[in-house]
Amino acid sequence: MATVDERQAALEEAGYNLFNIHADDVIIDLLTDSGTGAMSRDQWAAIQHGDESYAGSPSWYRFKDAVQNLFPFKHVIPTHQGRAAEKILFSVLGGKGRIVPNNAHFDTTRANVEYTGAEAIDLTPAHDAHEILPFKGDIDAAALERLIEDRGVESIPVVFMTVTNNSMGGQPVSMANLHAVRAVCDRFGLPLFYDACRFAENAWFIKQRETGYADKSIPDIVREMAALGDGMTMSAKKDGLANIGGWLAMNDDALAERCRNMLILTEGFPTYGGLAGRDLEAIAQGLEEVVEDDYLRYRIRSTAYLGEALDRAGVPVIMPIGGHAVYIDARAMLAHIPPLEYPGHSLSIALYREGGIRGAEIGTVMFGRHPDGTESPAAMDLVRLAIPRRTYTQSHVDYVIEVVTWVAQRCADLRGYRITHEPPQLRHFTARFEPL
Ligand code: F0G
Repeated sequence: MATVDERQAALEEAGYNLFNIHADDVIIDLLTDSGTGAMSRDQWAAIQHGDESYAGSPSWYRFKDAVQNLFPFKHVIPTHQGRAAEKILFSVLGGKGRIVPNNAHFDTTRANVEYTGAEAIDLTPAHDAHEILPFKGDIDAAALERLIEDRGVESIPVVFMTVTNNSMGGQPVSMANLHAVRAVCDRFGLPLFYDACRFAENAWFIKQRETGYADKSIPDIVREMAALGDGMTMSAKKDGLANIGGWLAMNDDALAERCRNMLILTEGFPTYGGLAGRDLEAIAQGLEEVVEDDYLRYRIRSTAYLGEALDRAGVPVIMPIGGHAVYIDARAMLAHIPPLEYPGHSLSIALYREGGIRGAEIGTVMFGRHPDGTESPAAMDLVRLAIPRRTYTQSHVDYVIEVVTWVAQRCADLRGYRITHEPPQLRHFTARFEPL
């Protein structure tokens, strides 16, 4: 339990970048929901069954069966996490002159597309952050169609849908929207892939909010989604309920062969990818637990508990509350700080300094720097409070509510930041800052 003065000293040493803070100096860590959850008794038991055979381990078959039970794609290629799947896929499909449309790329996805020289285009329509709509993660299917017509179908190797839509507030995508995207892809003969990190949370929202799905089971909803696609990238650190892992899956034999050849170069043999046998077991078990109604009801309600309390306290949050995180609209809260002075960064630093809470800026620091070196404000300046799965208690979350409310009441005192050092890509991880 570090003091405010100790945290201020830690911030100065860290160049005001929360990624550089020692986790022991954090009281409640809401930096990410990725790999930070608690594994269940049955997952730890499954780990004891891990078989570390280099090729054809029984753990691999258990993993593959668990994946294909939900996502019956022909080829499953295990990777050490989501971005490794992205790196392999875009190394094969990307390249200069190519365009990858997505409802919204997450940071590593965008970076992996752009690293190959291709262009990553987001097509989530702009919404009022506070307007309550059931599926704010949907892509603008008409804009997708226009993009394909304008830029030429031959420049587009794949259409991506991210479920749930992390960059735009953890908002779900409707099944109706996925059907519409499938129809566009069919019209142009394009493959549809999912960035499916939070597929179970998305399925829960479909069950709750979309007509015709209330009586369908979560696994059936996931399988309906999968049937509309041609492949996926996945980080098992989210809805795999594991601390590490991921996969790439697809139906196309030729593409799978090219991806497997890349996998052997960078990750490992195709029956373990970048993972130990015990990791494959933990994920296989996690995939059974993550689609349980009781788990998902608890998960989505406990995230909403935090968000609704902040909303009642007058803190501007993206509404409705998303699945894995609460997103504070820092641009609205800190209207006196221009986007290029990073209001999201300023708020995230204040939450850490005042209460030891570590959130993540999702805004102009993360997305404002472009491959050509220019900088412009991101679509939104948010602070994401991501909730690790099955980890914190209600009293921890009540403390978060108190701290955020306290900071919000004093937000007129907060100032912007200046970047003193940044790398060419993914600058938010390693940049150093100075308060203005
Ligand atoms: N796609 C999405 C939508 C993600 O949220 C992430 C990770 C990835 C891909 C990459 O997966 O981390 O296993 O390599 N998001 C984490 C987050 C880091 O905090 O939202 P990874």
